[in-house]
Amino acid sequence: MGAASGRKTAAAVTVFGMCGIIGYVGRTNSDQPLEVACEALARLQYRGYDSAGIVVANENGLSFVKRAGKLSVLEQALVENPLPAATAAIGHTRWATHGGPTDANAHPHLSANGEVAVVHNGILENHAELREELIQAGVGFRSETDTEVAAHLLARALAEIGSLPEAMRATSKRLEGAFTLLAVAADNPHLVVGARRTSPLVVGLGEGENFLGSDVAAFVARTNRALELGQDQVVTITADAVNVTDFDGNPVKAREFTVDWDVSAAVKGGYATFMEKEIHDQPMAVRDTLLGRLAPNGRMRLDELRTAESVLRSADKIVVVACGTAAYAGHVAKYAIEHWCRVPVEVELAHEFRYRDPVVTEKTLVVAISQSGETMDTIMAIRHAREQGAKVIAVVNTMGSTIARESDAALYTHAGPEVAVASTKAFLSQIAATYLLGLYLAELRGTMFPDEVRAVLDELELMPAKIQRVIDGEEAIRDLAGQMRDVQSVLFLGRHVGFPVAMEGALKLKELAYIHAEGFAAGELKHGPIALIDEGQPVFVVVPSPRGRDVLHEKVLSNIQEVRARGARTLVVAEAGDEAVAEFASQVFWVPPTPTLLAPLVAVVPLQIFACALASVKGLDVDQPRNLAKSVTVE
Ligand code: G6P
Repeated sequence: MGAASGRKTAAAVTVFGMCGIIGYVGRTNSDQPLEVACEALARLQYRGYDSAGIVVANENGLSFVKRAGKLSVLEQALVENPLPAATAAIGHTRWATHGGPTDANAHPHLSANGEVAVVHNGILENHAELREELIQAGVGFRSETDTEVAAHLLARALAEIGSLPEAMRATSKRLEGAFTLLAVAADNPHLVVGARRTSPLVVGLGEGENFLGSDVAAFVARTNRALELGQDQVVTITADAVNVTDFDGNPVKAREFTVDWDVSAAVKGGYATFMEKEIHDQPMAVRDTLLGRLAPNGRMRLDELRTAESVLRSADKIVVVACGTAAYAGHVAKYAIEHWCRVPVEVELAHEFRYRDPVVTEKTLVVAISQSGETMDTIMAIRHAREQGAKVIAVVNTMGSTIARESDAALYTHAGPEVAVASTKAFLSQIAATYLLGLYLAELRGTMFPDEVRAVLDELELMPAKIQRVIDGEEAIRDLAGQMRDVQSVLFLGRHVGFPVAMEGALKLKELAYIHAEGFAAGELKHGPIALIDEGQPVFVVVPSPRGRDVLHEKVLSNIQEVRARGARTLVVAEAGDEAVAEFASQVFWVPPTPTLLAPLVAVVPLQIFACALASVKGLDVDQPRNLAKSVTVE
């Protein structure tokens, strides 16, 4: 993979998601499994870093150490409690999704009899049902994770069937959602078994040793020969063999490829910057945020909000408080929630809300949106709201963060760790999560029928693939950035949900490329901003779907003509097939046809790619722009 261009080559694997995992088998007992696991976890930390654990296997059985906290906490624990020489190991670095970051929730998870250990990346959608079934069968649980059900199911299947690969296939068929599972069993310390559905897993081929990793970063320092695994496959590695089958046990031939990374690039999953990686993570971030929200009866499920149901029914106003990109996600959500729930929604920057004596009552529902959960302005806003008797729901990406803890309920986005200071994948997952909240409220309050909710959910499910298509077309937008190195100012226009998208596009450009940029409501153009238009002025325009409300589309087309007539260079983001737009555009960036309210999830992506590419062209530090911090923990 070319670290310089930051783009993926055909040989590269998709690098997505939360948690990092490693599996290893060697020929004889040694410290090698532990060393390989520690080294891999260090390289995989970018995937998650709130807890970590390792289990090793030898003829005496399984031994493990796991700890909440950074990897250094685990490393210290391993000094105090050294693990024995072994032939196999599996390890995990976690980004908490189900259950906070505690020692008990850290992976590996062991079966009740201690005979089987598993690590997991992904989200098991049907874990609640399976947990209930296992509890009925007398199994005691030690953690709050979705993963632990897999350890118990696997141990029970192993006791029945006698072969770990067979037991893994049987268990995988019972699991819904996304998972990569690795397992070792006490009765055979010479093999590690992995299973994959949606979440990533690759095999590293060594000499007298083999590896499994959530991406090649896990083993690239040891071997550059790798095997790609497909969907719904089970892989068994020993020191000398790799065997791949589908979930029914039919043999599968996996494709071998050579990893052409240098080791240092691998920590960013092979991209030149975290931001590029995080832009590419967006389909998975949205997918993971949506995962598990549909109950078997077809109704929507937001388990996290159960406690607040009566409040959700009686709220007479919703106030969204947030800062930066999260506030723009709130602006987008306002359009959808008001439309679906017929309840007034205000969106306010948290610091403005806090210090202006807002009207807040017991019937006000405050929604605090934050990636980090640690933004001080937002923390102060929710404290103020709660003092006035309002209930607060946090839409937050970081488990156990202050905002999650101090709110009445927390709805987690599952974007995974976001490292680049400027937010990308968190923004998309915040829109997805607030939309889920809106749909849930609409169903609860009776402003939408369940089948109407279901129709929107079905459309939402299509969004990850559409986002991927926009990313696949990134070359054209990168080329544009290459031509605009010396530009001094860029304007962004949009209407309706396109307006907050325009503001987010402008914010990305300010943050990353240090270029003056403004996002305007297109209807406001004639009330002032049009005076800024001069010969050659670049203006991005976010065009609504022509299949949506006619008037919106027509009005934006007029706006494009107005700025073009005054010399603007019109850079248009429009729906594929919208031929009317091409005539007035200097250049069009097509996005897949999408219902109006969902369009921000695709429309913002070219703007993110543009800002990121322009900053790179200018030689700027994309991940850590000057003067900014990822999490602003002071007022
Ligand atoms: C900082 C970051 C932004 C982010 C904002 C809110 O300003 O640079 O990217 O959108 O904080 O952060 P939060 O963690 O609350 O979403």
